[in-house]
Amino acid sequence: MRRSERVCRISAPCKINLHLRIGVRRDDGFHDLESVFLCLAFGDALWLRTLPGAPAEPDCLIQMEGAALESGGNIISRAVSLFRERTGFKHPLRIRAEKRIPLGGGLGGGSSDAASALMALNALSGASLPLEALEDMAAALGSDVPFFLRGGACWVRGRGEKLEPLPAPEGLRVVLVNPGFPSGTQAAFALLDREREKGPPVDCGVPSPEALKAALGEAPASWPYHNDFLPVFLAASEAASQRAYHGILRDFKDLGADFSGLSGAGSTCFGVFTQAGAAEQAAGVLKKKWNFVQLTFPLASRAHAVLQ
Ligand code: C5P
Repeated sequence: MRRSERVCRISAPCKINLHLRIGVRRDDGFHDLESVFLCLAFGDALWLRTLPGAPAEPDCLIQMEGAALESGGNIISRAVSLFRERTGFKHPLRIRAEKRIPLGGGLGGGSSDAASALMALNALSGASLPLEALEDMAAALGSDVPFFLRGGACWVRGRGEKLEPLPAPEGLRVVLVNPGFPSGTQAAFALLDREREKGPPVDCGVPSPEALKAALGEAPASWPYHNDFLPVFLAASEAASQRAYHGILRDFKDLGADFSGLSGAGSTCFGVFTQAGAAEQAAGVLKKKWNFVQLTFPLASRAHAVLQ
């Protein structure tokens, strides 16, 4: 490796929303939310390499690898452009992204890639910006991006940028099942709005924020968590999607999950298990039915960029 070439590897973990309550549509088109985000030990990986030579041509080539490609590179290139704009960092870059997180799966794959790219660029460039400066860029890239700079577990408000770290639960296993179709975030919010216009929102008796935050330290079987998108999808999405969600969530119950739900605006469902053996068995059964099944666990803190 030539002297001025630097390489940085960083993981880009996925998240699930254990709880997701959506408020009314705001004037800027976004919705205020209240959510419990939890980072998991499964995700993508990025390698960023600065090329030797004069930093005069700020080009950036992104090579995507893995199952979930399509437009996944777009948010990474937006992160690079924004970082260059804010810091003056000009070196040509090569980025390799190993994509494992399903696109449109409610697991925050693109958002995590963007946050990881910002963290890696911060290390590679020597800019060493404080977290607040990175958070500001992250919020400009997408609602879920700021969470991924911290990872762990967070109580999340605003459109996703107001973060309060929570102690991550320990000793749990999480099984992810993606039903094989993507769920567009914008379309999901629009469907929720249309359904709400038909009648007053059903009061599902969600506890106070304090109770919801405290519940994360209690047994998953007693979690009072709820996802506002789920009843809407079960009532108003295509019949095939309804069948998939019903089937996966019923299987999680039958297979001994202590808690199960839908992540984000879909389409990935998750089961939380306190018994590792039950989680392994459930993953084995579900793998016979679905192409994407992943057994993983909560990540208490997120990994930093590693300069090689
Ligand atoms: O911020 P992000 O690009 O991920 O948002 C995608 C779309 O999801 C937005 O254009 C908006 O329609 C919807 N959204 C929302 N309220 C949020 C987050 C996202 O309405 N808090």
